[in-house]
Amino acid sequence: MEKILFVCLGNICRSPMAEGLFQKYAQESKLPLLVDSAATSTYNSGQAPHLGTQKIFDREGITARHMQARQIQAKDFETFDWIIGMDQQNLVDLRRLAPNSGQQKLHLYMEVVPGKSRMEVPDPWYTGDFEETYQLLMEGLPYWIDEFRCK
Ligand code: 4NP
Repeated sequence: MEKILFVCLGNICRSPMAEGLFQKYAQESKLPLLVDSAATSTYNSGQAPHLGTQKIFDREGITARHMQARQIQAKDFETFDWIIGMDQQNLVDLRRLAPNSGQQKLHLYMEVVPGKSRMEVPDPWYTGDFEETYQLLMEGLPYWIDEFRCK
């Protein structure tokens, strides 16, 4: 079973949305994936997903009841096979936090999308545009699923 950790700055907007969408896909397609999410910071530790992400969850029939923001921990770099950040700053922070053995697990979410219009999933905490987050995450989802299946 592939184990995937999505990562963003606060773990209340983008990475929990990715967790919810991939979890839903894995359940519906009976694909054995372990999916979780975490923050590079402690800013929002213990908080539920942002209302903007919760609204997307409501629309998509995803439950966020179990979700609570947490910072990435040393053991996550051992547990997970794929650690996928949303923007370049997430990657800078992850490279700093990861041990040498974890460096090759680090990825940027949009890197798998051919002909991508952008390399980053912009932060809706600042843009207010959670629909854009949803659209970009859904754009990348089939490509990531292909990656996970091929392992
Ligand atoms: P996220 O968005 O990284 O997509 O969860 C943010 C959430 C909170 C903050 C920044 C970004 N913050 O500064 O508290």
